[in-house]
Amino acid sequence: MLDHLDLLLSQAARNIEAAASTDALREAEVHYLGRKGELTQALRGLGSLSAEERPLVGKRANEVRAEMEALLAARKEALSAREEETRRCRNALDVTLPGKRLRHGRRHPLTRALDEIKRIFTGLGFEVVQGPEIETDYYGFQALNYPPDHPAADEAMSFFLKDGVLLRSQTSTVQVRTMEKREPPVRIIAPGRCYRYEAVDATHSHSFTQVEGLFVDEGVSMADLKGTLTLFAREMFGPGVQVRFRPDYFPFVEPGAEIAASCAICKGAGCRVCKMSGWLELGGAGMVHPNVLRNVGYDPEKYTGYAFGMGIERMPMIRYGIEDMRLFTENDIRFLEQF
Ligand code: PHE
Repeated sequence: MLDHLDLLLSQAARNIEAAASTDALREAEVHYLGRKGELTQALRGLGSLSAEERPLVGKRANEVRAEMEALLAARKEALSAREEETRRCRNALDVTLPGKRLRHGRRHPLTRALDEIKRIFTGLGFEVVQGPEIETDYYGFQALNYPPDHPAADEAMSFFLKDGVLLRSQTSTVQVRTMEKREPPVRIIAPGRCYRYEAVDATHSHSFTQVEGLFVDEGVSMADLKGTLTLFAREMFGPGVQVRFRPDYFPFVEPGAEIAASCAICKGAGCRVCKMSGWLELGGAGMVHPNVLRNVGYDPEKYTGYAFGMGIERMPMIRYGIEDMRLFTENDIRFLEQF
């Protein structure tokens, strides 16, 4: 009986060593240690042994079981490590798998336009400043010389968060905030988001981006404004571009102007982008109203300044022929990939 146990152990040791996979190893385990396995079978004969022999054989059987288990465990560890390794290698080296296309991130067309605007104006000595998107009545209207009953201050045009607090509808609010904190000369641009109570379509949105410009110093004139914006438009849209100023009204400037550039696409001849007019409207501008200067404590007898505000979405729309501004915010990779 003891000899038989030793034989079983040496057979099992050989089989375990020879098992080439964890599946084969499991088979060996069942074969020797399973409920109907060799060891269990052998122990069936225990009952027929003498009282002196029985404890000896029982003890040896337990040792044999323990050894088999140890051998199984060791082999199992080695095999699973190897199988894991093969799996990893196979994954890493399977050149027959279809490749995964790498999607490269790109700068958003609006970010590109903003970067370009900042580059041009900082080159002209302007500093880039920021202002809050949530504004008070005061900065939104009063300080900008709006009369108390102006329609822009109406709920039908602006998003009010609560009485006297609203989302800014233009970056002109940053003019006041900046001048309050500084003494002239002030030469800044303030790009940022604006919000208006508008229905969304291809060319309108409830949120959009503007860039505000402001230059206040002694002796600043309308000619400086025209020169600066003409230079900007030529850098932005091409050297042949013409800039047009037409009278317009904004409460915070006097005189006020509407700025347009000759259509960079048809060179002024008329096309779909400029709606056959030959001109693309860029925004508004003018000489800072004396009341606005007074509101921030500047002496309008000593200082003058110009201000302008332009919509940014139009610029990449013109440059890339984008016909629907909703594309800017839909986050569709097929659109964004093109820039
Ligand atoms: N804030 C004006 C608008 O949103 C544009 C503007 C800015 C006009 C500065 C004059 C001076 O239409």
